[in-house]
Amino acid sequence: MTANPSGPIGVFDSGIGGLTVAHAIKQAMPNERLIYFGDTAHLPYGDKSAAAVQAYAVKIADLLIAQGCKVIVIACNTASAVANELLKEYTASRAKVINVIEPMVTKLAVRNPRGKVGVIGTRATIASGIYGRLLRQARPGIEVAELATPLLVPMIEEGFVQGRIATDVIGNYLDHPQLAGSRHLVLGCTHYPLIRDEIAAYLGAEVAVYDSSLVTADYLQNYLEQKKLLADRPVTQPDHFYISDYTDNFARLAKRFFGGDVTLEEYKLWE
Ligand code: DGL
Repeated sequence: MTANPSGPIGVFDSGIGGLTVAHAIKQAMPNERLIYFGDTAHLPYGDKSAAAVQAYAVKIADLLIAQGCKVIVIACNTASAVANELLKEYTASRAKVINVIEPMVTKLAVRNPRGKVGVIGTRATIASGIYGRLLRQARPGIEVAELATPLLVPMIEEGFVQGRIATDVIGNYLDHPQLAGSRHLVLGCTHYPLIRDEIAAYLGAEVAVYDSSLVTADYLQNYLEQKKLLADRPVTQPDHFYISDYTDNFARLAKRFFGGDVTLEEYKLWE
């Protein structure tokens, strides 16, 4: 793999949720240039089959590699759960692939958490059982409970991130018997950082909440440092934020997920 330190970092997601990861990367490494692809034409991935998500991921990876990306970040738990292995094989020597699940598992394994670990995510992520499998491999005997929380993505996208509706929905999920007694909670979806504070407030100080956007940015920075692939001077070209189907609503949401101004460009990858 002959990656170029001045190449951009490719980041993709089913839509705008991965902008939380893009934002965390930009905060940690302001010199880096980003090329983001949000596959809004196929949103949500969380209810799609593994085969469908794999096919989308391969096509997006081709685009990011063609744009000279030195690394590809799968900024979506669902795609990380079902398409990571295939994508690693597919991109092989052409680009390193980093997902949002392995960094979280690594962090938790190193921390060696005492007590039960709860994981919330989309139906597809939870059905894959990937967090439990990888955490048990890393720390045999660890207690993991995984719960699908499919209402959270549409709730967040509709702007219900605070107030009674958000608290009711969050509370309903977090009070599920499956999560009872958890001492740690993994936010296994890149949309969830937007309700991290509400979740943490609901759970109280005795439950540690882990946000994959920050953990992934940290992991990526370590990787780029180790491989001497960090950009050594500030970017001169602008970041690019592509989405496969443009609507004004996505443009509005993108600002919220990125936490600042972001201009979305439509890229019809599927035509
Ligand atoms: N951001 C996606 C994830 O992390 C969830 C949205 C979707 O279902 O496409 O899984």
